[in-house]
Amino acid sequence: MTLTHLLVTGGAGFIGSNFVHHVVEHTDHTVTVLDKMTYAGNEASLADLPKDRVDLVVGDIADAELVDGLFEKADAVVHYAAESHNDNSLHDPQRLSALAQAIVEAVGQPIRLPSGTCVEVGTSIGIASAPHHGAAGADVVHSADLAMYAAKKQGGGYAFAEAAGAPA
Ligand SMILES: NC(=O)c1ccc[n+]([C@@H]2O[C@H](COP(=O)([O-])OP(=O)(O)OC[C@H]3O[C@@H](n4cnc5c(N)ncnc54)[C@H](O)[C@@H]3O)[C@@H](O)[C@H]2O)c1
Repeated sequence: MTLTHLLVTGGAGFIGSNFVHHVVEHTDHTVTVLDKMTYAGNEASLADLPKDRVDLVVGDIADAELVDGLFEKADAVVHYAAESHNDNSLHDPQRLSALAQAIVEAVGQPIRLPSGTCVEVGTSIGIASAPHHGAAGADVVHSADLAMYAAKKQGGGYAFAEAAGAPA
């Protein structure tokens, strides 16, 4: 297969934009950048690139319909989109829930093998954070482990450490 068109998620971020510059400089490929343009995305970092080779689609990698359409046109996907400032997620339980739910849904997508067999994978995620669930790393991991078993007991998905009776 000839590689001509790349889909680069998070391509307006720090690493992604440098990667796109590298691709334009060293190959003949065209690139579609898919970026949500959060506080970390910077359109200016792509501004000097040739418009006939690089286009920016502002959107969310969680938008399955949008991603499906872009995916079909791409020969390869390079994935950089992320909430890379992890503290932002850890301080906000709602964002943690959304992140955990997104992981559960992404992993839970059925995978069809060439043989026709359909494989489904479940996920159980336990969430704990310092200092709420322990000051030492081992205590936090233990709390997360208990929460993970609580999630498992409820049939998969995610659970916060509190749900496992971990120290508050
Ligand atoms: N910067 C580093 O030193 C470093 C080191 C190792 C690994 N990484 C990893 O490389 C990846 C990119 O890092 P970075 O430093 O370029 O991060 P960054 O924060 O600069 O860029 C992330 C980009 O993703 C976009 N984005 C966030 N959520 C999105 C979503 N839901 N849909 C579409 N776009 C979304 C943001 O707008 C941003 O442009 C991350 O996974 C990061 O953890 C970075």
